[in-house]
Amino acid sequence: MLEINTLIGLPVDRWKEYRDIRLEMTKNDSWAFTPNHEDLLKLSEEEWKSELEDKRNTYFFLEDSGVLVGMSSIRTHIYNQFKHNVSFDMLYVNPEYRGRDLGKRLTEERIDYVKEQGGVKNVICEIFSSQIPSLELHKQLGFEEVGRIKDFAQYEGKYFDSVFMQLELA
Ligand SMILES: CC(C)(COP(=O)(O)OP(=O)(O)OC[C@H]1O[C@@H](n2cnc3c(N)ncnc32)[C@H](O)[C@@H]1OP(=O)(O)O)[C@@H](O)C(=O)NCCC(=O)NCCS
Repeated sequence: MLEINTLIGLPVDRWKEYRDIRLEMTKNDSWAFTPNHEDLLKLSEEEWKSELEDKRNTYFFLEDSGVLVGMSSIRTHIYNQFKHNVSFDMLYVNPEYRGRDLGKRLTEERIDYVKEQGGVKNVICEIFSSQIPSLELHKQLGFEEVGRIKDFAQYEGKYFDSVFMQLELA
């Protein structure tokens, strides 16, 4: 039986763990995330800390016995006319933990969190067409495809669409 905790936010003194999981996910699944691994390697301690403390992002982490094994974020908008929208970003589960409903759990927990906070009408998510598990996961949780940019991303000589998915909250 898995005993995995969800942490909402991380104290800034744990910035190295945040850095390490971001480096892990951009190495393991380089096609899924921006900025990429090489760009992240250039960030300073202060930049990592300021990311972690950025009030526009609420980070959710999965922790197994003190080790971060997954993460995701909710990004809010700064302008008043967009504040009823949030973006779900950076969904990642360590490969050894996949297929155990943890990605679904992180997404359901973010939906519940947003509902509890109130004031949000739309949850938006941008997913590359190559990320089948993520597309399926979001569809299963009620997200609908609302648009796509054809051939937006190029990876290893192939083009992939950028798919926009939306969940309208009641
Ligand atoms: C996407 C990701 C987070 C899913 O995490 P996970 O914990 O393995 O997913 P879950 O076990 O919660 O699965 C939930 C649903 O996702 C879909 N799914 C998961 N893995 C899948 C796969 N290999 N193929 C097709 N669908 C899959 C299914 O709909 C599944 O529901 P089901 O078990 O009832 O069939 C994980 O694969 C990952 O980190 N991928 C790399 C990074 C990435 O693409 N992130 C998304 C950025 S938008």
